[in-house]
Amino acid sequence: MLKIDYNFMMSTAIGKQGLDKKEIKKDADRISKAHSRVLDNRNKGWQEWTGLPYQKEEELVALQNELKFVRDNAESFVVLGIGGSALGPLSVFNALLHLRHNELPAKIRRAPKYYVEDNIDPERMEALLDVVDLKTAYFNVITKSGETSETLAQFLILYDKLKLALGVEEAKKRIIVTTTIGKGTLYNIAVKEGFKIYGVGAGVGGRFSVFSSVGLVPFACMGIDIVALLKGAKNIAENSYNKDIAKNSALMSAYLQVKAFESGKNISVMMPYADSLKFMADFYGQLWGESLGKAVDNDGKEVFAGQTPVKALGVTDQHSQIQLYTEGPFDKVVTFITVDEFKEKSPIPNDKTIDACDFLKGQSLSVLLNAEFIATRFALYKANRANFTVTLDKVTAESVGELLMYFMYQTAFAGALLNVDTYNQPGVEEGKKATFAMLGRKGYEDKLKEVQAVKTDSAFVI
Ligand code: PA5
Repeated sequence: MLKIDYNFMMSTAIGKQGLDKKEIKKDADRISKAHSRVLDNRNKGWQEWTGLPYQKEEELVALQNELKFVRDNAESFVVLGIGGSALGPLSVFNALLHLRHNELPAKIRRAPKYYVEDNIDPERMEALLDVVDLKTAYFNVITKSGETSETLAQFLILYDKLKLALGVEEAKKRIIVTTTIGKGTLYNIAVKEGFKIYGVGAGVGGRFSVFSSVGLVPFACMGIDIVALLKGAKNIAENSYNKDIAKNSALMSAYLQVKAFESGKNISVMMPYADSLKFMADFYGQLWGESLGKAVDNDGKEVFAGQTPVKALGVTDQHSQIQLYTEGPFDKVVTFITVDEFKEKSPIPNDKTIDACDFLKGQSLSVLLNAEFIATRFALYKANRANFTVTLDKVTAESVGELLMYFMYQTAFAGALLNVDTYNQPGVEEGKKATFAMLGRKGYEDKLKEVQAVKTDSAFVI
């Protein structure tokens, strides 16, 4: 089970920059109400994600078997999606597959090469086509709404190329669609073309969808142990039922972050000390940013809430960001993610022919990495900087499931504590509609007028 160390969030360690333990008692009522708001609404409305860890094991195994044909036949497996429809697959692939998976010889890889295409940069699309042989590729098109321009555009390009390369009938077999059943443009296309379709529950929002078919389908295609992943998710779900904040890691983390935000720490840095967990910072960043960044609270009052999520990687960003974190404004909380036991140690040889670096000789990269984490945390502590640490014993399907679910419960509790709507994203929707308007989509004529009415002054352009 994940270990959360929040010593360095407390005034006992970092003085007035930290939280006085007595505050937790004073806030008991607020904490309890926030906890109930999440727990009493489990599986209801937009909280369908809370029930996802309880999917039946036989169904998960059946899904894994059903999609084995991708593993057996594909040289490349490509996910087309964006936001919540990409970051789950990306962060889990990176965590659980070999760090240089695509470069491994096929025999050792034992799964297709993977690509998660979450942008529409034309150069990236053409670069993908340069490296993926369409004759041996399978595609998972993921969009919960079935309406996202970026994903639909990618699909149109690739389906067309597939038809040219393989003929219509074979091309149809290469597309697996994950979307809302019975609704949306992609669903209608998928039915017409006869693609394999997996549904996403109506009450599962994009950024909370990693344990729905949005994540499970690509994971099963790549042979990731989805039973163990959900076991981890369930461990955290059950820990989150605990009403006692001292025993509930997601609730305690949410509370400490919200208190820090309310005292002016409006930046949340996520800094994994493991390359395998690098994209967890992206996953967290979307959850934290889209869920909590809100102009109004649930009572309609303007609050402009939310901490700005920032991604960092240990040790790489020690050499670029840590100067700011230790000496810049007191406006940040740093969350470290660490791993007790790496899959590899990478020993540093004790080379007697080199008469230098004695402090490194005979150590290992895993020892050095964790020593640097402790040293960085010490430097932050010495400068009275708020930080806490999430530790995984090892990076496994189970611990990764725990980490993802921990982020989701932490976000849900934080939203409840802040009294904002965790599950909407009006700011994102506005941009989506403006894109439709600019591309001339029917029904968006008024929006186009609104976009075109924006006045700019060429005097302010250099
Ligand atoms: O969290 C969200 O709801 C969004 O970030 C969506 O995941 C993102 O906009 C993609 O949406 P869709 O899955 O409908 O294509």
